[in-house]
Amino acid sequence: MSIDTEIARRRTFGIISHPDAGKTTLTEKLLLFGGAIQEAGAVKSNKVKKGATSDFMAIERQRGISVATSVLAFEYKGIKINILDTPGHKDFAEDTFRTLTAVDSVIVVIDVAKGVEEQTEKLVAVCRMRSIPIIVFVNKLDREGKDAFDLLDEIEQKLKLRVTPLSFPIGMGYGFKGIYNLWEQNVNLFSPDHKQHVTATVEVKDLNAPLLEATVGDAAAHTLREELDLVAGVYPEFDTEAYLRGELQPVFFGSALTNFGVRELLDCFVSIAPKPRAKQSETRLVAPEEAKFTGFVFKIHANMDPNHRNRLAFIKVVSGTFRRNVPYLHVRLGKRMKFSSPNAFFAEKKQIVEVSYPGDIVGIQDTGSFKIGDSLSEGEAISYKGIPSFSPEHFRYINNADPLKSKQLYKGIDQLMDEGVAQLFTLNLNNRKVIGTVGALQYEVIQYRLAHEYGAKCSYETLNVYKACWVDPEDEKSAEFMDFKRVKQRYLARDKQGQLVFLADSSFTLQLTQQKYPSIQFHLSSEYR
Ligand code: G4P
Repeated sequence: MSIDTEIARRRTFGIISHPDAGKTTLTEKLLLFGGAIQEAGAVKSNKVKKGATSDFMAIERQRGISVATSVLAFEYKGIKINILDTPGHKDFAEDTFRTLTAVDSVIVVIDVAKGVEEQTEKLVAVCRMRSIPIIVFVNKLDREGKDAFDLLDEIEQKLKLRVTPLSFPIGMGYGFKGIYNLWEQNVNLFSPDHKQHVTATVEVKDLNAPLLEATVGDAAAHTLREELDLVAGVYPEFDTEAYLRGELQPVFFGSALTNFGVRELLDCFVSIAPKPRAKQSETRLVAPEEAKFTGFVFKIHANMDPNHRNRLAFIKVVSGTFRRNVPYLHVRLGKRMKFSSPNAFFAEKKQIVEVSYPGDIVGIQDTGSFKIGDSLSEGEAISYKGIPSFSPEHFRYINNADPLKSKQLYKGIDQLMDEGVAQLFTLNLNNRKVIGTVGALQYEVIQYRLAHEYGAKCSYETLNVYKACWVDPEDEKSAEFMDFKRVKQRYLARDKQGQLVFLADSSFTLQLTQQKYPSIQFHLSSEYR
């Protein structure tokens, strides 16, 4: 197969949701359709089970499992599908943000009873920022939940999306009869007792024909007609191009657990979801079809075994082909490196692969050469934009608790930050180090890993910071900026890339500072240029 054909048949995407909405269940059902697994329950969830929130070892163990489920690849109707796993636990939200830099599209799962939840809002905001094409899957229709129209309104308002349903539920919960598929124009009947749940697929091209009554009964047919009239009147017609531009989001309804509505979702997905897309580097737009290989590291996974301190770096192939044992340029280090055992991922297995194409993810054993955001190429000094850092939610000073082990401590901190476990800020005033995390849990993880993997001890000290804001002055030499740096000296720090960050201690301070220094912008993400 030519490289163009290989590119055209790849779909690399992520499933995002608030924990418990059904991401793992849906992933598993997709794999079943692809024949990649034979039975339900085969995919180990990497989510942190309820009640395990204070047990960080359990979480780390589960993160260990997630190496296997980091990329789940399977074939469906000749299409190679790569699902990039995103951790559900909110304390690992940074991992998810970074994974979103490697996907070409996403499916958002929403629980029909709970509606749009907090984690989903945050993740979708990132997708919107990058114009990532989104398909919405409303899950758990076999249970009582919110009215479909109310839910569509909620999705539009809270997620700021422009939606159009491509399937519509007929009833819900106990009264759930099935789904009208607007995409394929047929009715799928649901039977809670039937093993496959879909009892029949009836093609209903003419909604006014008595076939609809015969299929779903008089009352349901009447309601469905009214509802579909409303859908046609209120929602825009589906347009693939608008979806691909990130301007229109199709919505499907179903029940992952009972395997209902999943095939419809998958069939539509393979026909509309984007193939690997061109990616903007610092200097130019790189097309997947280009002959020369380029790629970037979006995730680093530590080995939990302290005797094998190697890590797995996940590289997304952006252009050309990645080949085993061919020397590539590690752009940041300016060094050629070749890889004798790159891994590709198939369902829950990984295996050594000779060649990978754009859209694919390659796992490389790493002993500390890679950082998140690093690029590889055949010689060009390419650097991919957009592995952003977001302001952490928690901040603590980190202190060395064993003066004899300071070298180990700093090496450990350095490497853990390269993996993206947390963010490090160094205060301008006194060079004290501050660790910023998304969740409080990471502090325990860091302490544990520093002790077990690096033989170093640390302690923390609280620090009252509300948000870290990346500072973006209109003019670095202006009197206003000089004044800001002088007055706010105590609150200024550098991130790991050396960018200036203002650690605001409250939203009030941030507001006041913004008013006082109008020519300086304060960003909650490092990606603002
Ligand atoms: P997550 O990865 O998004 O966190 O969610 P996951 O798939 O683990 O699903 C969370 C819970 O919701 C699970 O139940 C799962 O069985 C259930 N679920 C998923 N899809 C559906 C659906 O379509 N209908 C219904 N009724 N339930 C669904 P659990 O009891 O928390 O876990 P488990 O013991 O079943 O694994």
